[in-house]
Amino acid sequence: MEQGNSRIIESNQDGLHESLDATVQRHLQHQFRAPYADHSLKLFEQLKAWKEQDGRPLVLDSCCGVGESTANLAKRHPDAIVLGMDKSAARVEKHQHYHSGVDNYQVVRGNLNDLWRLMAADGWQPSHHYLLYPNPWPKSSHLQRRWHGGPLFPSLLALGGQLELRSNWRIYLEEFQRALALAGHQSQFEPLPDESPLTPFERKYGQSGQSLHRLVANLTTKL
Ligand SMILES: C[S@@+](CC[C@H](N)C(=O)[O-])C[C@H]1O[C@@H](n2cnc3c(N)ncnc32)[C@H](O)[C@@H]1O
Repeated sequence: MEQGNSRIIESNQDGLHESLDATVQRHLQHQFRAPYADHSLKLFEQLKAWKEQDGRPLVLDSCCGVGESTANLAKRHPDAIVLGMDKSAARVEKHQHYHSGVDNYQVVRGNLNDLWRLMAADGWQPSHHYLLYPNPWPKSSHLQRRWHGGPLFPSLLALGGQLELRSNWRIYLEEFQRALALAGHQSQFEPLPDESPLTPFERKYGQSGQSLHRLVANLTTKL
């Protein structure tokens, strides 16, 4: 199974998960009510103050790892502020090494299981949302750990914006596309732009010759 290295994904699935539709429908119909961690509530208040004080459009880089993509996206979106979030302290703490010199972004350690819900409940509407190389969880028994198979999917949708996902496991994105369609959103596969890698995982997978896939959706429009 692939999690943190560049080996090709091995999965006991060769197409969409047979329980995908039922799982997504169930999560679309039920609100996820797990309690918030205190540190998430505190972080959320800090992020809210940062966003409101700045006032520029917001770009989210969820699962940003070391935040190399966050720094790259801040250059790509000079008229916005970019927020990179990852739950791994070890990765976030390495960010200084990847700092790009621009100051329209920050990288924080935070758990999306809380932050997406808090942001959605507070009406945050990022202009763009990047989810680059999320953990694929390729074992079929792990469907509910994939973002589209879990209870957080409705919060991700509620945030809206231009969503971009990248993965080296095409089935992950095909499932995501199906889950979006079940929620009434159209999405398209597009080739990766011909530019230097946006993230360390993209670099690693690219160097090992793997195919990389990109799915984009405008979550502000519905079918
Ligand atoms: C495969 S890595 C990709 C990192 C980066 N996007 C890249 O491409 O180099 C997936 C990242 O998702 C993060 N992650 C997984 N679940 C998360 C959660 N609930 N909240 C925040 N980050 C999470 C992990 O800590 C990990 O850094």
